[in-house]
Amino acid sequence: MTSTNTIRADRIIDRCRQIAACTDIPGETTRAFLSPPMHRVHALLRGWMEAAGMTVRIDAAGNLRGVRPGPTPQSPRLLIGSHLDTVPNAGAFDGVLGVVLGVAIIEELRGQHLPFAVEVIGFSEEEGVRFSKPFLGSLALIGKLDAETMARADRNGVSVAEAIRIFGLNPADLPAAALSNEAFAYIEFHIEQGPLLESEDASIGIVDTIAGQTRMSFIFEGHANHAGTTPMHLRHDAMAAAAVWIAAVEDYANTHTGLVATVGKVETSPGAGNVIAGRVTASLDVRHASDQARHNAVAALIRSAKETAAKRGVQLVTHTQLEQSAVPMNAHLTRLLQAAAAKAKLPCPTMTSGAGHDAMIVAQRLPCAMLFLRSPGGLSHHPDEAVRPQDVEAALSTAIEFLVLLRDDKTTPRDDHA
Ligand code: GLV
Ligand code: MN
Ligand code: MN
Repeated sequence: MTSTNTIRADRIIDRCRQIAACTDIPGETTRAFLSPPMHRVHALLRGWMEAAGMTVRIDAAGNLRGVRPGPTPQSPRLLIGSHLDTVPNAGAFDGVLGVVLGVAIIEELRGQHLPFAVEVIGFSEEEGVRFSKPFLGSLALIGKLDAETMARADRNGVSVAEAIRIFGLNPADLPAAALSNEAFAYIEFHIEQGPLLESEDASIGIVDTIAGQTRMSFIFEGHANHAGTTPMHLRHDAMAAAAVWIAAVEDYANTHTGLVATVGKVETSPGAGNVIAGRVTASLDVRHASDQARHNAVAALIRSAKETAAKRGVQLVTHTQLEQSAVPMNAHLTRLLQAAAAKAKLPCPTMTSGAGHDAMIVAQRLPCAMLFLRSPGGLSHHPDEAVRPQDVEAALSTAIEFLVLLRDDKTTPRDDHA
């Protein structure tokens, strides 16, 4: 790697760390949908984008959108995006790296002609933390931020629509957040968040499919009562029912190849050590590259929760927040990405993404491709999440080669070829 390239990779990493310092909770990186620190994130990105000659706006869903214009206002438009929100106590790179890398690509292109515009999008929400529903930013882009979602409330009773207003935006402007007709493709750069690239000693990898996912909540409704006076055989303990079921979830996933199933959040009521839990709400996240395998798993886990609850005289109610099919990436764009990696002389394995990404939503409207960067230690959704400068450099070189291939490609459908 030349020293110039070290400098540009180091600058990308430094920018991600500047953004990581914008946090709802001092001392960690936690940034929920349109929480106040997102203003500072937007200001940082806006500064870098405008210095790179981009025109910047924030749409009504809080997505930051910077455009490098094409030859005419009607020029076809390539989208590069990822998300700016985080999980609680996150690392600095999940999502943010893809946006910062997008800006760096524009900086690298300075002075070069492209027959299309490039729009870099920092989605306001992908993780699903604040409203227990992910992908709010990219759903707005494809015009599917529906009334039911806008009415969802966070733990303080603030709805999505109110959160947008509090941030200083107007939900009535949402139609203008939708994708322009000129957009012809979307590419997302993202850390792998798993160990595969490291195990193959590769800097980058290409995503062929994003695994489908189901996210649900399971409410076990028992009877709260005195922990000292209620004999064991007369209890309807929601906590015990949930605990037995949670262990069954892990067992099921352990015995079904390719399946991952997680109960990552449990809320109990009334939540006191000397009171039998009357109600437990548990999350469930199930993922598999095969939709059939995922559907089978969800059906089995609902059955098992019902049986466990029934044995204990506990009621069960379930709610589904997300039912997202597995999404293949576009074969043609993926081939171009492979060719770009080959031109950059970089080995580039192909892999399935277990993590969800904005690309899986945007793919409903546009051909999409994804490039992964190696995650040291396979670590993500953790403050020690990292990325190596040499891998950032590999992704940047591949991205530039990809844009050159796209520029010269006569087979990608876009209006200037018509
Ligand atoms: C997003 O990070 C996910 O949960 O896949
Ligand atoms: Mn994430
Ligand atoms: Mn992410």
